[in-house]
Amino acid sequence: MKKIAFVLAIAMISATAAFAGGGGERGFRADAFWYSFADTFLASVRADMTAEFARANLALQHHDANNSQTVLVDQIRTAITRGTSVLIVNIVTTGSEDAAMTIVNMARDANVPLLWFNREVSNAVVNSYPNSVFVGTDADEAGVMQGQAIADFLLRADNWTGARSNFDLNGDGVINYIMLRGEHGNAEAFGRTLHSVTTANRLLAARGLRLAPSPANVNHSPMYADDGISNFFLYANWSAAIANDLMNTALAAHSLTSGAIELIVANNDDAALGAISALNGHGFNTGAAGAGYIPVFGVDATAAAQEAIRAGRMTGTILQDGTEMARTVLFLARNIAEGRPMNDGIAARFNVDSGVAKIRVPHAIFN
Ligand code: GAL
Repeated sequence: MKKIAFVLAIAMISATAAFAGGGGERGFRADAFWYSFADTFLASVRADMTAEFARANLALQHHDANNSQTVLVDQIRTAITRGTSVLIVNIVTTGSEDAAMTIVNMARDANVPLLWFNREVSNAVVNSYPNSVFVGTDADEAGVMQGQAIADFLLRADNWTGARSNFDLNGDGVINYIMLRGEHGNAEAFGRTLHSVTTANRLLAARGLRLAPSPANVNHSPMYADDGISNFFLYANWSAAIANDLMNTALAAHSLTSGAIELIVANNDDAALGAISALNGHGFNTGAAGAGYIPVFGVDATAAAQEAIRAGRMTGTILQDGTEMARTVLFLARNIAEGRPMNDGIAARFNVDSGVAKIRVPHAIFN
């Protein structure tokens, strides 16, 4: 709780303080535009960015688009008019070439470097403007690691009784999972949803176990490819509150002991934690000895998720390294402040895609 209040306080200070990094180097000022200040993982990245820029004595101002692409574009326009040195953009509407190209055109017309951040835009968008870079993750990687973490947990010897997994409640060789999906159009949501399940199933096959969508998921076919995974989910949109509502509805229709719901996979920790609160309402995942327990996996390794794992309420997560992301953004900003091209030296220092300036900060399984 203390930690959350601290992060919030930093977010609020940085939202209101113009030029958080002091006077700045030679009139340099960076502007960062966030899809929403309410996003937990990004709040920690914002706090890290504020600290990194302040240490480097580089001015940085944050802007909250509050989930509106129109507001984001207005804020970018104002920052350009005020003479920004770099646009650091966490786009609101993902998966839309038009939405991204509007911003590219504004940056190009003003001849300002454009640093896309966290919410991925297409290769075509990045390649359309040489003075642009994307900093984010390999979207599939978090899913692959989450699938590994799920399989590692389910395969642990102490999670079996004879030939039966303790989490296969109805003993049918199938673990029925609920998927709490992030936003549509978002590469990370897509990669995590698909690769968590395919990876877990590849690793579980040898023990005759597999994950299959719980009847509690909504079948959204034909929204995504008909692969038996991508269309089955509850749409939590990265939010703990939404995940909590969705899980409460699912738990009103399905019992936690019938085998209809045997595991929860969330695209991010906030959604996982929202689901856990709903489980708590049914006496599950409270951390108390002897309480019922449904394995729950997230992504991000937020402070709250780490705490829930320590307390025995949550099962696992994947570390998304927000501090390294903030440092990467600072590296690029420093290039600009010191008169070099924004992408100077990135290939030697970071994990960069071939043929497009996309920097991927690696994930790790959180232990
Ligand atoms: C993801 C992160 C989520 C949320 C999302 C916003 O990388 O895991 O928690 O912050 O970005 O698009």
